[in-house]
Formats: sequence, structure tokens, C-alpha cells
Amino acid sequence: MSKTVLIGVTGCVAIYKTCEIIRGLQKGGVRAKVVMTESATHFINPTLFRSLTREPVAVGLFDDAPGDPIHHVSLAKEADLFLIAPCTANVMAKMAHGIADDLLTTTALATTAPIVIAPAMNVNMYENVATQQNMETLRSRGIEFVDAESGYLACGDEGKGRLADPAVIVKAVLDRLNVKRDLEGKRVLVTAGPTVEPIDAVRFISNPSSGKMGFAIAVAAHNRGADVTLVTGPVSLEDPAGIETVHVKTALEMFDAVESAFGESDIAIFTAAVSDYRPASPVERKLKKGADDAALETLELVENPDILATMASRKRPDQLVVGFAAETENVEANARKKLVGKKADLIVGNLVSHDNGFAIDENEAMLVDARASKELPRMTKAQLACAILDELSLALQ
Ligand code: CTP
Repeated sequence: MSKTVLIGVTGCVAIYKTCEIIRGLQKGGVRAKVVMTESATHFINPTLFRSLTREPVAVGLFDDAPGDPIHHVSLAKEADLFLIAPCTANVMAKMAHGIADDLLTTTALATTAPIVIAPAMNVNMYENVATQQNMETLRSRGIEFVDAESGYLACGDEGKGRLADPAVIVKAVLDRLNVKRDLEGKRVLVTAGPTVEPIDAVRFISNPSSGKMGFAIAVAAHNRGADVTLVTGPVSLEDPAGIETVHVKTALEMFDAVESAFGESDIAIFTAAVSDYRPASPVERKLKKGADDAALETLELVENPDILATMASRKRPDQLVVGFAAETENVEANARKKLVGKKADLIVGNLVSHDNGFAIDENEAMLVDARASKELPRMTKAQLACAILDELSLALQ
């Protein structure tokens, strides 16, 4: 699962830089959520942050949060880290004295997550003993500061008080979250979801793949610093933030999208449940009972290209190719057969049935490569994604 950073935004001209911070955190694979003070809304409408984060933006202590009567506590619990950027002298003063008179300061008091503050204000306010002492108090309680920079300030003065560079703030947050960055600089290609093969205008051949496994791998790889391209068939999942997501329907479309990204990828992970066959001659209109009985009764199928096997046959020695084997029996033997037959470097075998493996969040899998088979305990798809990436990260060293 992605880590969640709650960003507290206070009323200050530097607020426009928060947009860049949100983007940077999202690129780092982090989910960003915003809580604003009332004064912050005078600078920027919450809609902007809602659009950037694709999350609701919290402002008033007594605003209705649907299904959540104690909003400050749930926000506080949800956060893996609370970043306040930009943070005014006023909000730091309140925090130093435990004052909680709005949603942001109440959440700051209620959270047990680490807090990082990036202050921004006029130089005289910054250097004022009151502010300095408040910062010292907060520091002594374990709150981390990303120090303001010196330079030209919005008020026309020169001096210390300018919000730190967004990239510096993003790095401080990612470092504090201790996100593993072992795939930095690597390109990862992931296929996900089902493919849909049209029979006519309203009918198709497909399968119940939810795409969850592929999306979990894409997000986990992105969190670890990889540049990820996700090629997905039709699923009901939202495009993950910061990941180039290519939507396809048919196996042939998936083949084309994969082919154009494969050459540049260091790792390609094929989780998609690709239809092995497609109707030979899909019809543009709807086939009708009676008139089209012949076509409906005997559907002629042709084989789709095996995307994994084709790419693996073109693979350079420095590329890693991973496939999945969804099996109803003999997982290890069948996975090993696919490892050899498709020339993959690793096959993730898992047992599937109507109530196991496809649309659910947990998986029981086995990692099969040329040297060994490793049985993994039952775990969530996000955990399995991490386990697979751990294996690949080792192989890349
Ligand atoms: N795969 C693919 N292109 C296909 C079929 C499968 O890329 N046309 C990939 C899947 O993404 C998966 C792996 O191959 O990583 C295994 O898919 P699976 O459907 O289990 O294997 P099949 O080769 O179709 O064998 P079978 O249906 O007989 O189990």
C-alpha cells in the first residue's frame, strides 16, 4: 500500500508551491491528502488541491465529512506523516502551545505520525524570538523542520523566511517515510487486467481479472523509484498517480502497447489475463437470434499472440521478464512448464478458482525460477507485489 502524507496548508503566499510538493510526493509513490486552514482558502480554492490529489480536501472542524463524525481523529490516524507546508508563524505558535482551534491544528494534536514543518513568512516574523522559541519547542518534541531559505520575499523584503524548495521538502518527507528506493532509474513495464475480445457490437469473450495484482505491482515499483508503464485491459480501478497508464481492450492492442514499451524496460511483469483466443471475424452490428444463428452457434476463434512469450524471446540479457501462472491444480509443475516454455526469468504461480485469486485482495503464490521454487505464505496483493520486487531487485544486483 502507498504511504499517506497528510499535507496541512496554512494561509501564506507560498501556498502555490504546495502544488509542486503534491506532485513530487505523488511521483515518489505517496498518496497525498490535504487539510487547509480557513485562511489558506483565501489564497487557493480547495478545488485545486482536490483536483491534484483526487482526494477530498478538509477545511472546517465542523464541516460534514460523510460517514465520519470525528474527522480530525480519522485524518490523524490515516496519515503516515503530517507535513505542514507552508506553515505560518501563527500555526507554529498554536502548535507549540497545544492550541487546537481549527481542523488543521486539532489534527496536528491528535496525530501520532511524524510531523514535518516547512515554515514560510516575512523575515522579521521568522527571526522574532517568539517564533524562534516556538520552533525550538516543536523541535524538542521531535517535529522535523525543513528550514526556510533566504532570499527575496513576497512582501518585498530580503532575508530568511522563504519556503524551502519543493524538491527539498519532498526529499525530506520521502526520507522520513523511509521508502525503499532500490528501483530508482529502472524502467518497469506491467500488464494488468483482462482483455476483451469482441464477438459483435454487444458481446465479447473475457474473464474476471480485476487488475488488482498488476496495479499493486505498478504502484509498489513506482514507490521504489521505478519509472513505470502500466498497460491495462478494462478494469474498474483508478489510474495510479504518477504512473503512465495505457488503456487497451483487446489482446492485439495490448501486444502493440507492450511492444512499444518493452525495448526500453529493465523489468517487464506480465500479470494480465490475456484471452488466448479471439473471435475470427467480429461483427460490427449486433448478431440476431434466428437470422444469425449460424454465426452464434459456432463461433470461430483464432489464437492471440502470446505477449509474454514473444517479448521474452526478444529479451536482452540485462532485461528481466516475469510471468504469472494462474492454475487450478499442480501450481509448481505448471509454473515451471511456463517458465521454460515462455523463456521467462520468473513465474509467479498461484492457485485460482471462482473464489480464490481473481477479484480478491489476497493471494497464495509460489515464485518459480530456474534455480528453485519458493512458496510464499498467504498475503495481500500489495505484499506479494513487494515480495516479487524484492526478488527482482536482488536479481538486478
Ligand atoms: N500471457 C500473455 N499473452 C497471452 C497469454 C498469456 O502475455 N496471449 C501471459 C500472462 O500475462 C501470464 C502468462 O502468460 O503472465 C501465463 O498466462 P496463462 O493464461 O496462465 O497461460 P497460458 O499460456 O494461456 O496457458 P494455459 O491457459 O494453458 O494455462
